[in-house]
Amino acid sequence: MSEPVYHPGLEGVVAGETAISTIAGGTGLGYRGYAIEDLAREASFEEVAYLILHGELPATDALKDFCRRLAAAAPLQSEVLQFIRSVPRSTPIMDFMRTAASALAHFDSEAADTSSEAQLRKAERLFAQLPTVLAAQRRIQQGKEPVAPDPQKSFAANMLWMLRREDPSPQLEQAMDVSLTLYAEHEFNASTFTARVITSTLSDLHSSVAGAIGALKGPLHGGANERVMEVLQEVGSAENAEPWIRQALAEKRRIMGFGHRVYKEGDPRARFLKPLCQELAAETGHEEMENMAEVIERIVVEEKGLPPNLDWPSARLYHYMGLDVAVYTPLFVVSRVTGWAAHVIEQMDNNRLIRPRSRYIGPEPRAWVPLADRPCST
Ligand code: CMC
Repeated sequence: MSEPVYHPGLEGVVAGETAISTIAGGTGLGYRGYAIEDLAREASFEEVAYLILHGELPATDALKDFCRRLAAAAPLQSEVLQFIRSVPRSTPIMDFMRTAASALAHFDSEAADTSSEAQLRKAERLFAQLPTVLAAQRRIQQGKEPVAPDPQKSFAANMLWMLRREDPSPQLEQAMDVSLTLYAEHEFNASTFTARVITSTLSDLHSSVAGAIGALKGPLHGGANERVMEVLQEVGSAENAEPWIRQALAEKRRIMGFGHRVYKEGDPRARFLKPLCQELAAETGHEEMENMAEVIERIVVEEKGLPPNLDWPSARLYHYMGLDVAVYTPLFVVSRVTGWAAHVIEQMDNNRLIRPRSRYIGPEPRAWVPLADRPCST
């Protein structure tokens, strides 16, 4: 038998088939055959979520029913709210989102049912509940009362309403809607692959999503959007941007929001979001930060050949929307749960246990040494 080929980080390895999204040739991204640019420009995030979960764009009646189901599932049971109140206020929201994805299973009567129909119903419920969880925890952390979801509002408007108890302007609602669309799905990224690995053992949806949230939290993946804002705050001014970035590159620092395992020519999501970000910066008086970001972007591209990824503009977009850094990666969860759930269902429907091999680099076989004969370590 020939030795399997080793690919560090599974780079370039095709580890499964999917009909949910494709990074065609490493330059474009489509969900279920639709270009993300068309979806971000034309569709509401609810339509995109339906497309990802159900496979087709919804007709008017299907969309209405979907929104009705989401509105019915969005309010949290009092036991869940009580649980949120019992968590230390200092708990990072991503940690709590991971816990909540697991805890919500205890209140879902279909938690253990892994049939496609039940998985889809659970996916919709989880998708509806996670924004309420996020906003409730953030407000409780701030010493404020949670705000109940409003069934009349769009998903994006409701997210902002529950966080701030204030109706968003149409521009803010649109910015949130587009960012959620761009974050929703991305084939075999680390968190989605985690969800598929968990599912492949025939485990349940909530377990897969809890594991995926743990994977997303890391700064090389979803956690990057929070780190981007920390960097921009550290840089402080457009004037300081050039010396800061040149020194950071000289010190071989990893610049958050740049580079991608697949998109070597640039992330189409970042390209799409950049003009929107610039528009919102102009409307909200954040031109200085846009100038700072422009200088950093130019130098990282010139010096390292690394284009920005989605987290680079999206962190700024959330900042211009007046959102706290603490909610940036949790907002990624609220959106990406659609992609994770679709992959869980796809994996389960055509399952084969995901169990790769490793290349052994440990000691050669050794003779057993009884405890009494082993030398003292000190
Ligand atoms: N800043 C500085 N150098 C970098 C960066 C960066 N952001 N990204 C890659 N490099 C360098 C890296 O140091 C290495 O250089 P050398 O060969 O001299 O050691 C080379 O490029 C290859 O790096 P790698 O880590 O092996 O490449 P990868 O394909 O695994 O990188 C990545 C993908 C996303 C982990 C990486 O680009 C990175 O760490 N970026 C910063 C974190 C980030 O923005 N993550 C968000 C990813 S996209 C959206 C999402 O998932 O949220």
